[in-house]
Amino acid sequence: MKTATEFGPSLEALLQSGKQLPSLPVLVIQVQKALANEMSGLRDIAQIIDRDPALTARLLRVANSAAFSRGDPVTNIGAAVGRLGMGHVRSLCLAVGVVRAFGDASHRLDHKRYWQHSASVGMVSERLTSESKRYARVDGAEAYTAGLLHDVGLLILDQFFPEEFAGVQEETDGDLEARWRVEQARLGLDHGAVGGRLLERWQLPDAVRLAVAGHHQPESAAGPAGELAQVIWGAEALCSALGVELGQEGAAEITPTEVLDQCEVPADRREAFLAEVGLIGERALAFTH
Ligand SMILES: [Fe+2]
Ligand SMILES: [Fe+2]
Repeated sequence: MKTATEFGPSLEALLQSGKQLPSLPVLVIQVQKALANEMSGLRDIAQIIDRDPALTARLLRVANSAAFSRGDPVTNIGAAVGRLGMGHVRSLCLAVGVVRAFGDASHRLDHKRYWQHSASVGMVSERLTSESKRYARVDGAEAYTAGLLHDVGLLILDQFFPEEFAGVQEETDGDLEARWRVEQARLGLDHGAVGGRLLERWQLPDAVRLAVAGHHQPESAAGPAGELAQVIWGAEALCSALGVELGQEGAAEITPTEVLDQCEVPADRREAFLAEVGLIGERALAFTH
């Protein structure tokens, strides 16, 4: 088991080695680029996805799952993309890409639960940017990406530092202490900071990287990244309150009403928005089956 002074350098060594470190699949980069380009339409996206049989099968399965299905089953990727919508397609591609990058090798982390949580926080973050008066300037697509990847540091810890991950897990279970605090004490940095270092390697936008790094202490991130971190933190608390939490993330310390107050969500929108967050949680389940 590494000490706090040993952990930082060995994380850096992993990041520098490049060999072991997961890289983001080309397909995901292509889909993200196509989605960022306003000129490309559903057809372009469908064409990129069509080249990847496993992803195609996955999207068809989700499009025909109970959470999305209405009417006749869809049998081609164009129709599946149309039914799911850009937001869900982006979500699935990125999630599938990161799963591939890391593989299924998990030690302690429940991957299914992890992805259900991550997909929900991504989708709720994006919705929060349109419901919140305070964070209305935050870009919805960036909020989505940052939300989906906010806990990616946990994948790194679980896969590359299993002993440290297990040690943190045992201490959080025993003391009912928030995981990120235990990580900071034992490793010198929390899973947000670990994830931020990976996203730097993956060359994701600075705001996304910084917001992920600071998602457990959003007040410490400055400028646009600080606002984005607040959105992720709020989305995490909402998802946790509605049953899509990841153990000991510390989000239960705040109630949904406090989040909605903080984000300045108008009173007449709150009920409908919370109902939507619940539905997002259910849909995230379909992603992970
Ligand atoms: Fe989380
Ligand atoms: Fe977290």
